[in-house]
Amino acid sequence: MKVRIFETALDLDRAAAQEIADLFKQKPDAVICMASGNSPRGACEQLAILALEQGVNTDQFFFIGLDEWVGVPSELRGSCHYDFQERIFGPLNLDASRYHLFNALAADLQQECQSMDALIAAKGGIDLMIVGIGMNGHIGFNEPGSSFELKAHVRELDEITASVGQKYFDQPMELKYGITLGFGHLLNSRKVLLLANGNAKAAVVQQAVEGPVTDSFPASVMQLHEQGFIMVDAAAGVLLKP
Ligand code: F6R
Repeated sequence: MKVRIFETALDLDRAAAQEIADLFKQKPDAVICMASGNSPRGACEQLAILALEQGVNTDQFFFIGLDEWVGVPSELRGSCHYDFQERIFGPLNLDASRYHLFNALAADLQQECQSMDALIAAKGGIDLMIVGIGMNGHIGFNEPGSSFELKAHVRELDEITASVGQKYFDQPMELKYGITLGFGHLLNSRKVLLLANGNAKAAVVQQAVEGPVTDSFPASVMQLHEQGFIMVDAAAGVLLKP
């Protein structure tokens, strides 16, 4: 794992977008997986700009959504699907054949997980995973206590996730379970970027980087990935040892 600290959030977003653009230049049909939420938002905006500026081919990559809130309809503002539509599928013009997301309304969620695992295997694995970090150290919905070996699974959300998650929705939501890729997928991805910005993330970033590797603090899994990059702005990196 390596740590990269950027002066501003914009510098961070540009660098993350450049990583994605460079991958598309090398491998136009790359498979990328991304979290929704605030952390990768700026990078997506910058990617659309960079792709135009640098003539990057964005017509062939395949997109996998990291997770979804169980029971939340895809068209509801606040769902991960809605977020991806707004910042990736719309701006980069992806039709439905170019992405796969969990269907969080599926009657058989285990089947949904198996389909996701099978699809990732059939695609030859994930080239680049871009994730955020939650206030309890989660990545995706791998909550504290999640084994590092899991593939796609359904997870009961802890209280911090259920309450922080309200920020994405226009009305109060009952958020009880998440469906998510597991750390088996993260560790098998060829490269992983964990993005964090702002002072509120400083303590969890410090713990992910400098704390022990333990499933009780999920983001510490990043320390096990040789091509894992923790990319933060100065505010989120303020507690890190120089
Ligand atoms: C969302 C997801 C979550 C978020 C995390 C940070 O799809 O996977 O793990 O990445 O909760 O959220 P933000 O980026 O909104 O601070």
